[in-house]
Order: sequence, then C-alpha cells, then structure tokens
Amino acid sequence: PVEAQAIPAMTAGWSPERIAQQYIVPCMRYYGICVKDGFLGLPLGERVLKEVEILNQSGSFRGGQLVSQRAIPSRSIRGDQIAWVEGHEPGCKNIGLLMAHIDEAVMYSAMNGQLGNCVINGRTKAMVACYPGDGTGYVRHVDNPNRDGRCITCIYYLNKDWDFKVHGGLLQIYPEGQNMVANIEPLFDRLLIFWSDRRNPHEVRPAFATRYAITVWYFDAKERAEAKEKYRLATGQKGVQVPVTQSSKP
Ligand code: OGA
Ligand code: OGA
Ligand code: MN
Repeated sequence: PVEAQAIPAMTAGWSPERIAQQYIVPCMRYYGICVKDGFLGLPLGERVLKEVEILNQSGSFRGGQLVSQRAIPSRSIRGDQIAWVEGHEPGCKNIGLLMAHIDEAVMYSAMNGQLGNCVINGRTKAMVACYPGDGTGYVRHVDNPNRDGRCITCIYYLNKDWDFKVHGGLLQIYPEGQNMVANIEPLFDRLLIFWSDRRNPHEVRPAFATRYAITVWYFDAKERAEAKEKYRLATGQKGVQVPVTQSSKP
C-alpha cells in the first residue's frame, strides 16, 4: 500500500475556531483522519506529560480492557496500561485543560452540520494509556465496529524525541476501501482525530520505549441514544454501558 505521512499544517497563531473550520473540517471530510501538531504548545503540553508520568508512577494504571472475555490473554491483543480520568481529580488539572481544548476543537468542527451526520452530544472520560515499551502494541481493530455511539476518536500524544525507527510504536491506519496506510508517529503535542467506525481500522505497532497517549471519544447523539435503548432492551438496565475499546478485527 501507499504510505501517507502526516503533513504539518501552517496554523500557528490561528484561533481554535479557525483551526477547526479551515483545517480539521476539510481534513475530516476528505481523509477521515486529521493530524494537528503543536496542539497545546510546549508549556501546557509539558504539564500534561508531568501529570501522566506521576499517575503512572503512582500505580493508577490497569491492564487495558476488552469488550469480550476471550481465551487469549488480553495482553497479546493490547499491551497498554490505562487509567480513566475525568479531568477534575487531584493531580489531573492539566489533563482537564487538555480535554477542554479538545472539546473546543471538536465542537467548533462539528457545529452547523460541518461534519455531516455527526451531531456531538457528549464524550467519554479521557483514557490515559501507557505502552510500557516491552514490545507490546495493539492489534488491528476498529474502535466502534458495532454502533456503540462513538463517532470521533481524538488521541493526544506525549512522547518527546520519539524515533519510530528505534522505538517503534507507529499508529497505522488503513482507511476502508483505500490502498493506503497512514503512518502516524506518536509525537509530543500531536493531536490525531479520526472517525471511530469501520472506516478506520488501525493498529499500534510494537513499542520499545514508554509510549503515552490520551484518548477521548465523542458521541453522536442519535447513534448513542440507539445504543442505550438496545442496551436497555437487552439487559433491562437503564445504566449506561461503559465504553471500552473493542478487541475485534474489523
Ligand atoms: C486505542 C488505540 C492508538 C494509539 O486505544 O484504541 O487504537 O496510537 N490507540 O495509541
Ligand atoms: C469484541 C467483539 C464483535 C465485532 O468486542 O471483541 O467480538 O464484530 N466484537 O467486532
Ligand atoms: Mn483504537
């Protein structure tokens, strides 16, 4: 397949609204994938990284969950350690600021029907993920293969001096119906946005250094309401299904 590299956009000094409308929206409409470098800038990006490092050292991370219980150990599917963060916990103030900035970028992008059918009415908590660098990654999967309500995946990367030739850890996206692979390096202060559904199967290549990322998923109002109703009918419970990343191949 043809390889596509992320092309950094000349958006320095632009307002969040302008970045959304002039850059994110066209990217999403054309490619279904968008990379924005320098998303927070160095000072705030570094404060977010510090919080994530402290979370990791404090033992807040657990093995990444899968939707289904399987015979194969989950570590062979996804090797990351994760923590869910709301953004107002002690020691998570800057992660909360990151979430607010991502909210802003996504809301400006989705307003006035600019992202087609996608009408955002909520999101998950932030999933802070650490691949420990032991050569584990995450096998090819689709985040939302079965209409659980998630329409947009946003991933913010935190890895300084990352050299994929040495450290691996590329995110490879194989857009549906295209003979193309997008190789995304998990670089510090980079925000990646893509459709969460079957349009974007992807995998994390084995990582050989500590690899941090923070992911937030945004809900489409209609699909989410349908997913909740299906869940209520199936289980008799009103409770909202906790969104977890799917293990399955597309
Ligand atoms: C995921 C995932 C990609 C990455 O957690 O579902 O695909 O680059 N992560 O960390
Ligand atoms: C899973 C699963 C079904 C599918 O979550 O592990 O089996 O079709 N999903 O993706
Ligand atoms: Mn994924």
